[in-house]
Amino acid sequence: MALRCCLNLILFSMCLCYAQFLCSSPIPEELSQIPLNFLQYAKSPEVFDWMVDIRRKIHENPELGFEEFETSKLVRAELDRLGISYEYPVAITGVVGFIGTGNPPFVAIRADMDALALQEGVAWEHKSKVPGKMHACGHDAHVAMLLGAAKILVEHRHLIQGTLVLVFQPAEEGGGGAKKMLETGVLNNVDAIFGAHVSAKYPFGMVISRPGPILAASGFFEAVISGKGGHAALPHHTFDPILAASNIIISLQQLISRETDPLDSQVVTVAKFQGGDAFNVIPDSVTIGGTFRAFSKESFIQLKHRIVEVITKQANVQRCNATVEFNEDQKPFFPVTLNDQDLYEHFRAVAGDMLGSKNVLDMQPLMGAEDFAFYCEAFPGFFYFVGMKNETVGKFEPGHSPYYIVNEDVIPYGAALQASIATRYLLEYSPKSTSTKGYSRDEL
Ligand SMILES: *[C@@H]1O[C@H](CO)[C@@H](O)[C@H](O)[C@H]1NC(C)=O
Ligand SMILES: *[C@@H]1O[C@H](CO)[C@@H](O)[C@H](O)[C@H]1NC(C)=O
Ligand SMILES: [Zn+2]
Ligand SMILES: [Zn+2]
Repeated sequence: MALRCCLNLILFSMCLCYAQFLCSSPIPEELSQIPLNFLQYAKSPEVFDWMVDIRRKIHENPELGFEEFETSKLVRAELDRLGISYEYPVAITGVVGFIGTGNPPFVAIRADMDALALQEGVAWEHKSKVPGKMHACGHDAHVAMLLGAAKILVEHRHLIQGTLVLVFQPAEEGGGGAKKMLETGVLNNVDAIFGAHVSAKYPFGMVISRPGPILAASGFFEAVISGKGGHAALPHHTFDPILAASNIIISLQQLISRETDPLDSQVVTVAKFQGGDAFNVIPDSVTIGGTFRAFSKESFIQLKHRIVEVITKQANVQRCNATVEFNEDQKPFFPVTLNDQDLYEHFRAVAGDMLGSKNVLDMQPLMGAEDFAFYCEAFPGFFYFVGMKNETVGKFEPGHSPYYIVNEDVIPYGAALQASIATRYLLEYSPKSTSTKGYSRDEL
């Protein structure tokens, strides 16, 4: 008797919940229509041309990390025109816009704004006008996509249940702009964040990602190896730092080949080697530098520890001394970019509704790094690639090439994807999912 009573109560409350769900949420067919409607709107000539124009303006005037003053000004002017309120400055040039009720849940979508110190090699009408600087990673397109998403969202304001946070961040390329944005506290309320990156590797019309670790943790090191210079014909009067540095580089490679589990991907690369000016003089010192990568915090810390040990001790073998710097204030360590499992499922559903599920692909993790990782440490995050390769449009070189091009057809896709993933997240949001993450937000 008591049991049946209880059961009735449970059944009754389940019905109640179900009824409430029906009242407050759109039906599945309505939900699956959202991405298609958003894409159609973003592809309309008026919206498309506006976004392409923004992208070209930014492309012509590339700015390096934490110097994105004109880009930031352009972003704010467009947000003003759209009637979107924002906070500025956040981390020097960053802008954070808000659309919706101002109440939870808060879902963020992010664009990075910085260019690279690179001379553009592409001859076209909107080539970079700044010598030695170029948007060669598609961040110009990302800004246009996020402004496009903002326009879509303003147009479809009635669908927003909660608050959309538009994150225009500085200095993704090594400067750790995301870390600085988080430190200001302006993103403290965020429940989830989505980041999109255009990809020259994957075909136009496809999106690519994976759950769990997608990009590596990364750090940089620089070492000075000091010996005693002298006449090249009298090596026994010197402590040769060139030989010491050479042995150090060989030993560093053995960290991966002999000390690392072959199934735990890691990288140590020495990319800089500077020492000596003459054929007949052994120099006093040599400077080497490079990067190291890993897919877990434990492996990353162990690798860092051994890099210091190998460099200093191997230098001693050749009677030299070495100092190792990680220059974390200029080049902060990036954590692993860790995609949340629930957000991955959500992404698959929404992107599948827009592009067809056969165009939503899984990928292997990459050894590249993204400062989006800092957001993933602070709250559930999800990062994905939007394919743009179309050989009819041109030859697609990988990011950071002076011949890098953007297929501008990708811009409405990126805008509509970000807008619909975020809108649907708010509509389908259930506060239950506090996903477990392998990282706490500490020194890494
Ligand atoms: C290395 O450091 C030791 C201890 O400080 C010092 O005695 C020695 O002279 C140094 N050697 C070189 C080559 O700088
Ligand atoms: C590739 O680009 C050409 C020229 O712009 C276009 O006609 C074609 O439809 C594009 N292909 C895809 C798959 O979008
Ligand atoms: Zn890049
Ligand atoms: Zn990039």
